[in-house]
Amino acid sequence: MKMAFSLSFSQTNNPLKKKISSIFLVAILFLTSIGHSSDEISYSQENAKKYAKFGIEGTSWLSFRDIPFYVKKYVKGKKTLDLGCGAGRSTRFLTALGLDVVGVDISEQYLKEAVFIDPKTHFFLSEKGKIPSIENSYDFVFSSFVLIMIPTKEELKNTVKEVCRILKKEGIFIVITGSEEMHSIDKKWLSYETSFPENKNPKSGDRLKVMIKKVGAIFYDYNWLEDDYSKLFTSNGFEILETHHPLGKDNEGYAWSSEKECSPYIVYVLKKK
Ligand SMILES: C[S@@+](CC[C@H](N)C(=O)[O-])C[C@H]1O[C@@H](n2cnc3c(N)ncnc32)[C@H](O)[C@@H]1O
Repeated sequence: MKMAFSLSFSQTNNPLKKKISSIFLVAILFLTSIGHSSDEISYSQENAKKYAKFGIEGTSWLSFRDIPFYVKKYVKGKKTLDLGCGAGRSTRFLTALGLDVVGVDISEQYLKEAVFIDPKTHFFLSEKGKIPSIENSYDFVFSSFVLIMIPTKEELKNTVKEVCRILKKEGIFIVITGSEEMHSIDKKWLSYETSFPENKNPKSGDRLKVMIKKVGAIFYDYNWLEDDYSKLFTSNGFEILETHHPLGKDNEGYAWSSEKECSPYIVYVLKKK
């Protein structure tokens, strides 16, 4: 009921109502988050259920828009792992591209949602930094909005090394992650609210907050900079083939806001050395 109210309110064109709506939304989020740690909120069953209702749409669509192009250009073979598949949105996207996909995630809550929506696909649970697959076995590993949830450089390193281990020689790893602008308090994204006090002047590794407006899901992400990512990939077995910052264009069917001037995302196309 509360969400229905805030959503309809935020869709108004009246600037005053928009401002009140934003304050109202932030207040609700603050009140509902009291007593929970940030990780408990990101990984809670409630958040997983909300996230499962968010498709590849709005600002998020932009992050996936050019992936078919990169898959066609670089991926040889179909055997694919969706690392951090969450509620299976990215897994279903990859399956629709004709790939032979399995999904893996560290969260039972998210996996439950994935299996419920798509019982035919094989999803499995993993430990942080461990993928239960044999080495040199995948043509392609895909990972969307996962590295951004990893809190330490050590865990990032373990995860990337593990991807390298399970990929075949010259296998491809495509990563979608947040750009340095994604959580900026000054940006107005179509689908995300990022004007939270914790997002002011972030440094590398700081924890940042984002809320998906349509479903009210909240994530506490980590502020890894492009320099952090480049070092992470090149020091742990990968060559960077492409980096891409997708921008919104006119006539895409979305009323882009900051997305036209600044990309909330960075896409890395990596090859196992
Ligand atoms: C924001 S969701 C993205 C899900 C999906 N890739 C998508 O685009 O919809 C991030 C997911 O990454 C998972 N995750 C976080 N750290 C992980 C890790 N070290 N290994 C595997 N999955 C991880 C979380 O449990 C969560 O389900």
